[in-house]
Amino acid sequence: MDIASCTQGETRSQPVAALVGQDEKVVFTAPDPAVATRVRLLAIATVARFHGADLHRGDLAVPESAVPSPAALVEWVGRSGLWAKAARLRWQQLVTLELASPVVLLLNDGSAVLLVANDAKRNVVWLRHSRLGPTDPPLAVDQKSLAAVCRGEAILIRTERAANRSEAAFNLGWVAGLVRMESGAMRDVGLASIALSLLTVLPPLMVMAVIDQVVTHQSLSTLVLLSLLIGTALISETLLGYARRQLILVVGARVDARLNLHVFQRLLRLPLDYFERNQAGTIWSMTGQQINKIREFLTGKLLATMLDLVTLVVLLPILFYLQPTLSCVVLLGACLIAATIAGFMRPMSRRVKRWIDAESSKSSVMVETLHGMRTIKSLALEQQQRDRWDACVAEATQAKVEAGRLGNLTQMIATPIEGFMQRGVLLIGAYMALSSDGSVAVGGLVAFMMLSGRVAQPLASLAKLMEDIEEVRTATTLAAMVLNQRPEAADPTAGLRPHFQGALSFDKVSYSYPGASSPALNSVSFSVPPGTTLGVVGRSGSGKSTVTRLLQGIARVCAGLVSIDGVDLRDINLTHLRRNLGVVLQENFLFRGTIRENILAGRPGLTLADAVRAAQLAGASEFVERLPGGYETFIEEGSPNLSGGQRQRLAIARALVHDPRILILDEATSALDPETEALVNANLARIARGRTMLIVSHRLSSLVDCDQIMVLDEGRVLDVGPHCELVERCAAYRQLWQQQNRHLATGRSQPATLETVTQGA
Ligand SMILES: Nc1ncnc2c1ncn2[C@@H]1O[C@H](COP(=O)(O)OP(=O)(O)OP(=O)(O)O)[C@@H](O)[C@H]1O
Ligand SMILES: [Mg+2]
Repeated sequence: MDIASCTQGETRSQPVAALVGQDEKVVFTAPDPAVATRVRLLAIATVARFHGADLHRGDLAVPESAVPSPAALVEWVGRSGLWAKAARLRWQQLVTLELASPVVLLLNDGSAVLLVANDAKRNVVWLRHSRLGPTDPPLAVDQKSLAAVCRGEAILIRTERAANRSEAAFNLGWVAGLVRMESGAMRDVGLASIALSLLTVLPPLMVMAVIDQVVTHQSLSTLVLLSLLIGTALISETLLGYARRQLILVVGARVDARLNLHVFQRLLRLPLDYFERNQAGTIWSMTGQQINKIREFLTGKLLATMLDLVTLVVLLPILFYLQPTLSCVVLLGACLIAATIAGFMRPMSRRVKRWIDAESSKSSVMVETLHGMRTIKSLALEQQQRDRWDACVAEATQAKVEAGRLGNLTQMIATPIEGFMQRGVLLIGAYMALSSDGSVAVGGLVAFMMLSGRVAQPLASLAKLMEDIEEVRTATTLAAMVLNQRPEAADPTAGLRPHFQGALSFDKVSYSYPGASSPALNSVSFSVPPGTTLGVVGRSGSGKSTVTRLLQGIARVCAGLVSIDGVDLRDINLTHLRRNLGVVLQENFLFRGTIRENILAGRPGLTLADAVRAAQLAGASEFVERLPGGYETFIEEGSPNLSGGQRQRLAIARALVHDPRILILDEATSALDPETEALVNANLARIARGRTMLIVSHRLSSLVDCDQIMVLDEGRVLDVGPHCELVERCAAYRQLWQQQNRHLATGRSQPATLETVTQGA
């Protein structure tokens, strides 16, 4: 839309201020918030395009009417894989910015301009506004003019360095990078730790002074001074300790949040067939549980040990200063512990792996049992499941005990060494004090004892860190086996976003599932003109669902050409494709939430009125309105408070709510009782108006009105044509038709399917 034309003749708005250049040229005053928002989005999209990313209005999680906040804009840009940040910049920063790309300046009236150049010497910035033509030079603006329209809010956009991070393989290095990203906060924690360590040195040194000076020379004034010092040290220690714990808490929480967000995002990017090939329990135990382990290590053990390391760096030289011989003994002890652990590392890692495998099978059984509880109960399979569970628990317990036993053995060897580091040196020190004719002062020895306790424990935990790193390495490897799978689309932002008319076409399409011996589809060709309906029949396993899966881009690598409106499906942006399709399957998952939320399914800009319209179209409105809460009725997980038919009609409503040009129904009405099915079928004609529909069904009665019906068998097309022609010329179809009608005629409730017909034939 031409922004200039919007500004003319507008009188009802109160422009905040006009942006005036140095040559007194008025650039823009936004007439109303809607235009201002459009200008703002345009400015951001322009910078995104500068970086090679196409932003799409539909990705902005804000309704059309609302004014998007800077945070929403940042998220919008982030979704395209670019890096974005909202910041408030002072004039000084604006004129000195190094501009690798334009910066979006948010104006007070809700619109935006692009900062394209700056000159600190002349104290001026150059702005480009969407109202300026492509040949117009940018407008030079000084501080005063800009301050009248802009508070300095800016959106900085650049190519995502972290994008490579999100593509990078998940491994120990990646995990370490997470901690490195917090280097600023870590530095503060480190400084606090150094200060704390220095403070911990004070009490032992003072004790040394008390024993060697106060007691020996009975000096009361020294004691008073020491008391004051101890008091001050105590207060600072308390405050610094508080600050350090607070910082650790924040750093830990941030690392944790990053890890969680990243893992979930990676999981969502995996292709559907990965989840079909692997059990949910296994995936959960390989990612969720392992990530928990990694997280606990990063935010607990690793941080603590790194801070202990700081203590070591501060205290070790003091220890060596106080008592070199005894310090060597302490250090030797730590080396012995490290050597012990290194020796046990390999067998330990094998046992930990076995334990994790056993735990993973255990959670698979648990998840499967919970999912299939209805079947287990109805088939009385409790005993069988209990036996499987028993076997898994036994294996996991044994593996855990074995790993624990080895850990215990390591601990048994390390404990005396650790104890010796802390207390054994006392004996050596006492012996040295006795035999050195007073050259080893008692006070110094006591101070050493107090300090060495603080050093011995971090040294031991540093040595043990190796063991933990090994465990985290195993955990990372397991999580990587899931997370490093090839994502569904290499670049989720790439691809065309055409406006669909709804012409579908398969041209000699063949497809085999990975590992399958025979192709699921074999040179399938058909085309569906826009706005028409194609019915698909065929016996079980003939490839009907595979056709719908290829259309949804679930399996993208196939021979031949699948196209929508003549555009190769592989060139279409995957998210755009799926957003513009409506799909209803035989089994549909309803999420926890109200009926309204389930129908709207988080699509921005849709309202209750859209939900009601979709529900009416799907034949769901009647029962929804009879529910006590109406559209606000809450559906629990697995929707136990709804019948199968009701669930199905809600799923149909959900698929229709955004008015898709293409609708795929894969056995969508099979679960419905004849009455409800008739209701939905009666609505199908209305639903089909203005849409291309692909209806897969075993029941021919739902398909007779389709413009064309395709008969599939073993992945091949037997015939395509309207019902009346197929009855004439396709034997398999005719047989099925007669069979189903005969059953209906004799009053049997279950009509035969093509499967029974072809199998019987
Ligand atoms: N995820 C998968 N992995 C491997 N093979 C599969 C997968 N899904 C389907 N197949 C195989 O592909 C063939 C076609 O399956 P498809 O699901 O398309 O059949 P269908 O006609 O929809 O059957 P039904 O009427 O039972 O739903 C079958 O032989 C099936 O075993
Ligand atoms: Mg199927």
